[in-house]
Amino acid sequence: MTDEDGYFGEHAAEHYDQDSGAEFQPDVIELTADLLAGLAAGGRALELGIGTGRIALPLARRGVPVHGIELSRAMVARLRAKPGGERIGVSIGDFATTRADTTADGPFSLAYLVFNTIMNLADQDAQVACFRNVAEHLAPGGCFVIEVMVPELRRIPAGQNIVPFRTGPTGWAYTVYDTVTQDATCHYIDIAEDGRASARTVPFRYVWPAELDLMARLAGLRLRDRWGGWAREPFTEDSARHVSVWEKPAG
Ligand SMILES: C[S@@+](CC[C@H](N)C(=O)[O-])C[C@H]1O[C@@H](n2cnc3c(N)ncnc32)[C@H](O)[C@@H]1O
Repeated sequence: MTDEDGYFGEHAAEHYDQDSGAEFQPDVIELTADLLAGLAAGGRALELGIGTGRIALPLARRGVPVHGIELSRAMVARLRAKPGGERIGVSIGDFATTRADTTADGPFSLAYLVFNTIMNLADQDAQVACFRNVAEHLAPGGCFVIEVMVPELRRIPAGQNIVPFRTGPTGWAYTVYDTVTQDATCHYIDIAEDGRASARTVPFRYVWPAELDLMARLAGLRLRDRWGGWAREPFTEDSARHVSVWEKPAG
């Protein structure tokens, strides 16, 4: 892994699409791409942290021109190797600050940041900068969509700061929360067939829906919709995540 690849270097990229989690189920991907295609409303889409094209490729198959911003060349190499991947433009860089070229094709009608990736920006300044960067890419009337978990502080037992989220014979994983700074670190311990263990850690910053709304307002965007999932489920106090849509005012 190179420093430029961040936490998604060669090893992570190699295994990324083998994940069997809900995000990788075909019906979830189709639902996501359908909703995003509708929001693109005939215009272009910008994916922040495009990765291996899990969502970008089905969106492009719906006729939406997609451009990505991505830190990891290893992830982009996986995107390029897939059918249609060679036709998707990618700007290599940090999505909080990197500008995609809009001189030839104009601004985007949709920008999106899914699968908790806003939390990969590990401090508040970077998250605020990300909203500003997106707003500068959007056409008036354009939308910014974020899919992210609701901070799971209700799962932290009293007096503790750790939430386990995977346990089994091939490894385990848990998150350590700092509820003062909103910093958190996921720890993954994988156990190979020969019994050898390897460990890696990924830092992130958890962020509340209302805090995201404020970041959007700082960037001149306003909340248009908030759902509990890609099927436009109602967002309630029991929602584990949200899909939020902010709009750049027209005119
Ligand atoms: C969880 S993956 C999501 C990939 C893809 N969006 C998807 O839904 O499958 C997060 C991706 O964001 C990229 N990423 C994380 N932080 C980034 C940053 N600051 N700038 C650009 N890319 C970043 C990672 O390299 C990785 O490819």
